[in-house]
Amino acid sequence: MQNDMQEILFSEEMIQEKVKELGEVISREYEGKNPLVICILKGAVMFMSDLVKRITIPLEMDFMAVSSYGSSTKSSGVVRILKDLDTSVEGRHVLIVEDVIDSGLTLSYLRDSLLQRKAESVRIVTLFDKPHRRTIDIRPDFYGFTVPDKFIVGYGLDFAEKYRNLPYVGVLKPEVYQNK
Ligand code: PRP
Ligand code: MN
Ligand code: MG
Repeated sequence: MQNDMQEILFSEEMIQEKVKELGEVISREYEGKNPLVICILKGAVMFMSDLVKRITIPLEMDFMAVSSYGSSTKSSGVVRILKDLDTSVEGRHVLIVEDVIDSGLTLSYLRDSLLQRKAESVRIVTLFDKPHRRTIDIRPDFYGFTVPDKFIVGYGLDFAEKYRNLPYVGVLKPEVYQNK
């Protein structure tokens, strides 16, 4: 365990097992639909790359980078598109891949924007869900784990851009935040 970590909440094994289950469910749900699977950078990058390896049907991948303004531990609800899709979503079955849903503002904005662009369907898979943090009513169609209202890092999730590369997810020691 890295020195800055206080506690591991989800081990590498737990995450990989869950990703495999989600891949199986999604493979069944999207049989024959050639889904466009969209990774929301940067947080979802680890989940995306592991998940698509567990999806056994044909699919296409695209990437979108969005970021919410504001401090690094809270999202403000203002969403910026930093990189848009290369692919047209018109008539496509779209699956948005996220690492975590917190307030729900990022996904609410994204889903509306993809529906406006005439996607045939838009569904959401998130590895982590923080339902008690929601300020807008949005629910994932598929999720891995419900998490307590704690600031978690690892497996794509960052604090001030760090810790994304950890293969597990946990909580940092309080002094790590104070030193920022
Ligand atoms: C984080 C996270 C989600 C979003 C969730 O991304 O990866 O995309 O916030 O928050 P919300 O439900 O309150 O909108 P962030 O904006 O930090 O960008 P990143 O993925 O590049 O870290
Ligand atoms: Mn993100
Ligand atoms: Mg972030």
